[in-house]
Amino acid sequence: MGDPSGSFLNSPWIKNLNFSNLSIWKDYGEYGVVAAIVIGILIPVLPSVWFMGKKRGKVRGVPVEVSGEAGYAVRNAKKKQLVEVPWKGATTMAHLFEQSCKKNSKNQFLGTRKIIGKELVSSTDGRQFEKLHLGDYEWLSYEDAFARVSNFASGLLKLGHNRDSHVAIFSDTRAEWLIALQGCFRQNITVVTIYASLGEDALIHSLNETQVSTLICESKQLTKLDAISSRLTFIQNIIYFEDDNKANDGSLGNLSKWTIVSLSEVEKLGEKDPVNPSLPSKDGIALVMYTSGSTGLPKGVMITHGNIVATTAAVIPVIPNLGRKDVYLAYLPLAHVFELAAESVMLAAGAAIGYGSPLTLTDTSSKIKKGTKGDATVLKPTLLTAVPAILDRIRDGVVKKVEEKGGLVKNLFQVAYNRRLAAIKGSWLGAWGLEKMMWDIIVFKKIRTLLGGQIRMMLCGGAPLSADSQQFINICMGAPIGQGYGLTETFAGATFSECDDTSVGRLVSWEQGGYKTSDKPMPRGEIVVGGFSVTAGYFKNPEKTDEVYKVDEKGMRWFYTGDIGRFHPDGCLEIIDRKKDIVKLQHGEYISLGKVEAALSTCSLVDNIMVYADPFHNYCVALIVPSQQTLEKWAQEAGIAYKDFPDLCDKSETISEVQQSLSKVAKSNKLSKTEIPAKIKLLPDPWTPESGLVTAALKIKREQLKAKFKDELEKLYS
Ligand SMILES: *[C@@H]1O[C@H](CO)[C@@H](O)[C@H](O)[C@H]1NC(C)=O
Ligand SMILES: *[C@@H]1O[C@H](CO)[C@@H](O)[C@H](O)[C@H]1NC(C)=O
Ligand SMILES: *[C@@H]1O[C@H](CO)[C@@H](O)[C@H](O)[C@H]1NC(C)=O
Repeated sequence: MGDPSGSFLNSPWIKNLNFSNLSIWKDYGEYGVVAAIVIGILIPVLPSVWFMGKKRGKVRGVPVEVSGEAGYAVRNAKKKQLVEVPWKGATTMAHLFEQSCKKNSKNQFLGTRKIIGKELVSSTDGRQFEKLHLGDYEWLSYEDAFARVSNFASGLLKLGHNRDSHVAIFSDTRAEWLIALQGCFRQNITVVTIYASLGEDALIHSLNETQVSTLICESKQLTKLDAISSRLTFIQNIIYFEDDNKANDGSLGNLSKWTIVSLSEVEKLGEKDPVNPSLPSKDGIALVMYTSGSTGLPKGVMITHGNIVATTAAVIPVIPNLGRKDVYLAYLPLAHVFELAAESVMLAAGAAIGYGSPLTLTDTSSKIKKGTKGDATVLKPTLLTAVPAILDRIRDGVVKKVEEKGGLVKNLFQVAYNRRLAAIKGSWLGAWGLEKMMWDIIVFKKIRTLLGGQIRMMLCGGAPLSADSQQFINICMGAPIGQGYGLTETFAGATFSECDDTSVGRLVSWEQGGYKTSDKPMPRGEIVVGGFSVTAGYFKNPEKTDEVYKVDEKGMRWFYTGDIGRFHPDGCLEIIDRKKDIVKLQHGEYISLGKVEAALSTCSLVDNIMVYADPFHNYCVALIVPSQQTLEKWAQEAGIAYKDFPDLCDKSETISEVQQSLSKVAKSNKLSKTEIPAKIKLLPDPWTPESGLVTAALKIKREQLKAKFKDELEKLYS
């Protein structure tokens, strides 16, 4: 789900990344890319915010009337009709796959690195880390992949799986994931996807709610499943991806009630005894994708085949000259729409997909054995997807490295960067000239080799990317960035900055919240998305579905995102708020918690902040995790004696210093008086995903924070 762009742009979730608290950050390698990439796996909820690229001189927003309701719409003016399929006949993912495999039969399709060696390395504090020595990519051609998929599809039925019951895939991103998925699609079987990093309760809930009878997982998950087997009521078969040739060696006591087989055993079963395929139809449910919410249990979003092919069709034209020559590095979670959409696009285009992981991406990644090569170096991808947090981290890493080197390197980098920036802002002629080549060779080439040196475009989604980071990556990597917006509910939304073919967005007034499409100078309101990519609703949850999905009299399906947006004069839509984060105070003023948090988190003393407003009062309060470093520096300068950091946080001088500082920031951000927290509480301990106070994407979890700090909040209002 979305978030006000402000909270990302001003990024408390980036700022408060506490390296020392996340063990995976230990190996903070050259240019920080390691750290950068790790974030990728920490982002389960993406994409969430739409921030369409600005286009000079092109106006895309137009006032419209939909269902008699005055609205404001954006859609591609050139095309009269929404795009539904990438090509004629590719009406479902199963059809698309079969046809693409025929067209591209001899091309490389799925690549996996062979494990040459493994070793355990101990860190100074005694913890052990696994290091891998990985070899070259080994490839399956489109033809090979098609054969394996067909065999698996047959084998699954031979194993006794009933077509009408669900299969779940619970695994990290890898080639077998896609093979299993397409195998199920070939027999019109709905697949449930669950993030590999999802907690135990969420896993059990998802499997139980969808009554999954066959679970596909990695062999490393078997032990975990054994421990929770008594709570998995409907499972009959477990199919595991073999690693280390570790099979069911008898140590898994409880699992004996299930049929446990490896993927290759299932494929053999199908090869011996083929079953005719039963391809699905366009409106059939392809996936039930569980998205982790910031509150409560995850919700399953029902995605049709039509939704996926529509998104695929829309993204293809966004990547110039996409085709068989392209090599895509896949490492983000496939259980997320963004990655699945990207891989579907590569499949449709006949491109090669090489699998990697966030922990092995670059030569300095934490799981890569010293002296051996990371995924990007070996694969030399031309295309890569990323989330803004990754790109921001790459940027920070490069900046840090440059700062450390200092002297000539720093000066040279700055001159090069500024020259390139001026060129980009001025004319494209200058940008592609001789000077660019020179700077590329002297300065940027080294940075580019981090990701293999061949990247020609990056796709970015999940949250709006700051203009700074976009420019930085653009210049340093020499590749444009296509930004995408979408939600699981709109199957990634299919809006890669230049393209909104499958969906139309419009705003509807939200009078209560004080946002109207008649607002001047920019129309504002809740963003509503319509089109072929709008999914079928929430699994077994008709109430929630009816609340946020509507069908108009022309049969067009709309999804009410809950995001508040405004249209810029050039048609660029910007997310400015989130409906549920708006509270009406006692005297009737509305306060947008997200907006206030985003503004105040730019204060240098603040690492993390949650603003809270009790509707029975006329002021708001805030819980703040202060920046220890900045605060201790201030205390030293101000001559304030304190025992330890918690003690410093409790001192009245400290509280008043932070409050003054907040007021200044609030004023410069034009917050109104009621939006400035009247009272604050400073909390010394950082909020981490492990503590359950922020999501894995480091967004604050309001409900959990409210519960945990109930007493503190009460005191602030007493
Ligand atoms: C599983 O689902 C059933 C309904 O299908 C429900 O009665 C039961 O409580 C659920 N069990 C768990 C462990 O969630
Ligand atoms: C088997 O299940 C029981 C009860 O669910 C659990 O206590 C036990 O630890 C499990 N055994 C193993 C080997 O995980
Ligand atoms: C696919 O399966 C669904 C649900 O099991 C069923 O309603 C539909 O008719 C099937 N489609 C085809 C083309 O057989």
